[in-house]
Amino acid sequence: SVHHPEQFIARARLLPVVVLQDAADAEPLAAALTEGGLRSVEVTFRTDAAAEAIRIMAENPDLLVGAGTVVTPAQVDAAVAAGARFVVSPGFSPRVVGYCQELGLPVYPGAATATEIQMALDAGLEIVKFFPAEQLGGAKMIKALAAPFRSVRFIPTGGVNTVNLPDYLALPSVFAVGGTWMVAPDLIAAGKWDEVTRLTALAVETTGRQ
Ligand code: 3PG
Repeated sequence: SVHHPEQFIARARLLPVVVLQDAADAEPLAAALTEGGLRSVEVTFRTDAAAEAIRIMAENPDLLVGAGTVVTPAQVDAAVAAGARFVVSPGFSPRVVGYCQELGLPVYPGAATATEIQMALDAGLEIVKFFPAEQLGGAKMIKALAAPFRSVRFIPTGGVNTVNLPDYLALPSVFAVGGTWMVAPDLIAAGKWDEVTRLTALAVETTGRQ
């Protein structure tokens, strides 16, 4: 992509969160997502297949691939080596954030409280992940946090589904909505790529209605 990852994600306002057990699923999954109209994806370092899956998906010229669940600088190195263009963390790690900034790599750390948001602002960041979104109070909580922090944009993730997606998309402070609902592990395990495409297209259509 010729675009900065930020603009790319902002345009889609959706960020599928992928947990792959088998890197062999990476190629058909990438195809299913692009077929559904999505151009960005977060592959999580929750499985041993993560780096290889990033490498394979990053070969797809239509897809912007980032690394998720990154909690150590070593994982940042592995992500970059595999071709990841951005990094997402569940929480705020000054070590991970500092290292990404050293590398000039966009990083979206988790910030679930006003204090954590201020830590992100202190680090020069204005886009944060809000995880686990539903459990933390959902769209209402984001709206409340966005009031004092007018420059901050959120990536709510955790418990988002087809039903509550519009609530998040309705907020101007929501940068993009993340989740596994269109790339659920059971769909991947069963190779239900058509269903991944259908759910992806449905989510894309929902962003278009905002
Ligand atoms: C994440 O890491 O972003 C979340 O685990 C995704 O949450 P979900 O599976 O509830 O969408």
